[in-house]
Amino acid sequence: MPVTKKQIAALMKDASEAANLILKHIEKGDVIHVSSHIDADGLAAAGIIGKSLVRLGGKFRLRIAKWVDEKVVDQIAAEKPPLTIFTDSGSGYLDLLSEKLSNHSVIILDHHQTVTETPSNFIHVNPHFHGIDGSRDISGAGVAYLVAKALNKTNTDLAYLAVIGALGDMQDKYADKSGQRKLGGANESIVEDAVKAGCLNVETDLLFFGRETRPIHQAIARTTNPFIPGISGEEDKSLAFLASLGIKPKQGDKWRALRDLSEEEKKKLFSALADYLVSKGFASDVALNLIGNVYTLTREEPWTPLRDAREFTVMLNATGRMDKAGLGVAICMGDRGKCFEEATAVMQEYRRTITKYLSWVTEKPERLEELESIYVVRGDGVIDEKVISPVSSILSITLSKLGKPIIVYSAISGEDMVKVSARALEPLRKRGLNLGEVLRVASEKYSGRGGGHDVAAGAQIPVKDIEPFIKLVNQLVKKQLEEAQLGS
Ligand code: C5P
Ligand code: C5P
Ligand code: ZN
Repeated sequence: MPVTKKQIAALMKDASEAANLILKHIEKGDVIHVSSHIDADGLAAAGIIGKSLVRLGGKFRLRIAKWVDEKVVDQIAAEKPPLTIFTDSGSGYLDLLSEKLSNHSVIILDHHQTVTETPSNFIHVNPHFHGIDGSRDISGAGVAYLVAKALNKTNTDLAYLAVIGALGDMQDKYADKSGQRKLGGANESIVEDAVKAGCLNVETDLLFFGRETRPIHQAIARTTNPFIPGISGEEDKSLAFLASLGIKPKQGDKWRALRDLSEEEKKKLFSALADYLVSKGFASDVALNLIGNVYTLTREEPWTPLRDAREFTVMLNATGRMDKAGLGVAICMGDRGKCFEEATAVMQEYRRTITKYLSWVTEKPERLEELESIYVVRGDGVIDEKVISPVSSILSITLSKLGKPIIVYSAISGEDMVKVSARALEPLRKRGLNLGEVLRVASEKYSGRGGGHDVAAGAQIPVKDIEPFIKLVNQLVKKQLEEAQLGS
């Protein structure tokens, strides 16, 4: 269902209410607490709110959390902030927030599914309240951006950060004849704002990072979604692959970028990669994920990883996942000096880590265990829990022949808990799957916490319960799909 102007206006009205409360607290000179999620969308959302507050002369402090749990909420409650703004988090944990923060002033700017009532003294801005799909029509950063826009019209120059948030959450699920991966829904109007503000350029092309500026083999090797075993992360092999196709990597002594290739060369490259993926056992449509809208951030320096909005999200995810979330927020707020330099190194380490785990999973077929209704990757003792989320996201796209959701898990160090990350593709959502609901119900049964979106959800549960938990998830997925089929 397309998102209507009326729906966006209704969401904007809620955003204005949040903005008014923020303005009141700024006038009083209050220090506002902002609490956000650790991934690219969460960091972009925090950057948007942070920058908007700075522009108004507001004071704030920031907390970036892997997830909302008792510990996080207890800390906030103990600090007694005059106003707390949750971005890209909060909607799924209203029970916890209302139990511990019911007499606090709280604003939630989120796009996660919600199950309980919002306490009357909270302001809760969430697309689901207006029939807008939070899993693909607008991100947490998108909601934060609407509030920034309500605070001051000139904040439309921050729209590009909301585009980054949406791409970070893989909301580019709108396909048309010219390509598979595009933003749509409410994100479309945010893209328009960013283009009008002169920060963004959109073109349909092959989706390798740095299409304007980077040598082609580098651009291909740096792209990991979908993951191309033997090419992703491996510049030499990527160069050899080009050579095998007779595509010249250089013009004279200058490297060619993707934009320098002729249409014919691009077609050749695409179909060779598609064949290559099929030869590695992947489904024939996985390669389609290589075509779509390229979102170029025109104010960023060419050659840097910030120029391509999708690569920007990789940098943000890297800082968040490698315990350097502060760097990511600083970059969103405009730092292109020391923090950017440090984040570049963090990103290299992150790429190496992710590539290592993806290679590990795809190396041996038995590492992807098939149950009746789900696939399971037991990453325990191998995959670092901190990067379970991006690993499961990339796997779900790369292994899209699956037709079943994928569940990846690993132990959380120093705790008797495991982190679980689940992903599914569009066809399953259309058949009625809601992973957020499945993980919430299953984790509650085993005294854990879980939730999220229909196609992407997570949970933390006690280590000892992982086997029965997986079994239950398998059953719940089956039941949900069967019931949806009966109801249709
Ligand atoms: O908390 P938040 O909404 O920001 O996180 C969403 C997570 O789900 C991201 O890590 C994103 O990459 C992932 N996702 C996905 N596939 C989708 C939607 C989201 O992997 N279709
Ligand atoms: O952690 P992961 O990226 O797999 O989470 C996917 C989605 O589920 C994210 O949007 C995240 O915020 C959400 N989630 C949640 N509750 C949890 C874990 C994750 O709502 N306990
Ligand atoms: Zn999000």
